[in-house]
Amino acid sequence: MTDALDVALTDVTRRYVESNPGSARLARAAAEVMPGGNTRSVLHTEPFGLRIAGAEGAVLTTVDGHRLVDLLGDYSAGLLGRPTEVADAVRAVLDRGWGYGAMSEPETTFAGALVERFTSVEQVRFTNSGTEADLMAVLTARHVTGRDRVVVFEGGYHGGPMTFLPGSAPLRVPFDFAILPYNDTAAVEAEFSRHGEQIACVLVEPMLGAGGCIPASDGFLSALRSLTRTHGALLVMDEVMTSRLAVGGAQEVYDVRADLTVLGKYFGGGLSFGAFGGSHEVMAAFDPTRGGLTHGGTFNNNAFTMAAGTAVLALLDADTLAGLNVRGDRLRYRLSRALAPVGFCVTGLGSMMTIHPRPGPVARWSDVAGVDHRWRRLLFHELLAQGYYIAERGYLALSLAVTDADLDAFVEAAAAFADEYADLTAEATVGGP
Ligand SMILES: Cc1ncc(COP(=O)(O)O)c(C=O)c1O
Repeated sequence: MTDALDVALTDVTRRYVESNPGSARLARAAAEVMPGGNTRSVLHTEPFGLRIAGAEGAVLTTVDGHRLVDLLGDYSAGLLGRPTEVADAVRAVLDRGWGYGAMSEPETTFAGALVERFTSVEQVRFTNSGTEADLMAVLTARHVTGRDRVVVFEGGYHGGPMTFLPGSAPLRVPFDFAILPYNDTAAVEAEFSRHGEQIACVLVEPMLGAGGCIPASDGFLSALRSLTRTHGALLVMDEVMTSRLAVGGAQEVYDVRADLTVLGKYFGGGLSFGAFGGSHEVMAAFDPTRGGLTHGGTFNNNAFTMAAGTAVLALLDADTLAGLNVRGDRLRYRLSRALAPVGFCVTGLGSMMTIHPRPGPVARWSDVAGVDHRWRRLLFHELLAQGYYIAERGYLALSLAVTDADLDAFVEAAAAFADEYADLTAEATVGGP
């Protein structure tokens, strides 16, 4: 049945098609050689994904010449924007050569800087992505404990093979997962009392990221810490997104230390990056003289990422991260007020947030699982038409390059959206999961 929301969506889609002919053409060509015209599923939007020609500071320029304020920050990997320090580090590698098939000094500097930041990480190993680092951390926990079962959470995202969102099961690694509701300590207690001796680890994001920027509630992470410790399981914290909250990541903010920490995204300055680390005792499994596990990866220590990572860490001190948190918290508050007329809420922590087409509170993924996705698409396209780029799922991750003037204008754009669609009440379209 066509309703007012369909009509609005048809209209905004027509305007999108008309104003992005270059993207449409490139999307058709891409679809010939890549299924769906894309190689990173999250970038697919209806009726076709945007094609970017270049980027500078916090501005993306599309192939059709539209300048967009980049509020997505490469899904949080672009925390720094595009600073000259990172470009210079990459240029220096171009000058001295790359692809050594051997070790070089920058990886020790980079590893040392990471270990210095995260008190629970005494040793680290690099990977090519957060996905790989998450897999390695869970496999390490299974090896170290000699157990198989892995506790994870609904709405959790730890890379494609460990995604706990709808439709993800066919591409999931076949581990013995217990998938529990997030922020539900009682459910985790019940799981440990039934299967405590089989549980290798709990794998948790301190804030559900792709699942909707839903922060851990008070006491949830510390309950996971004490349950894992009591039952001889490891606590694996996926800080791929939340590490930006403080120099020591969410573990510092929540004052809960993990046995294994997974890092990714922005530490590579926009280049491929992942890492996992923990105590000497746990990481000894990878020491050829002690544990004997082998962990390969041609590009684990690629010269570009190692150099860029060292440059990134020099730029991210406590004050810089705290300042970005304040700006993000303020934006979340202002956006919530601006979008109140359409009944939307905004959740998140610091500079990472998701706009949900339903009123709050939102504590679990099931709270947002049943929302009408058409609202998300409508908001995405209307903001795009006004020159703002966010994820279609309503996600934003501010970079240091975004200015206060950008944010002021963005709040006005959101308010204009709410004004235009206030009569199509979001609340009426919220269904059950
Ligand atoms: C929490 C979390 N874990 C893991 C990953 C996977 O990282 P990558 O995309 O680098 O493989 C992501 C990516 O979005 C993430 O948000």
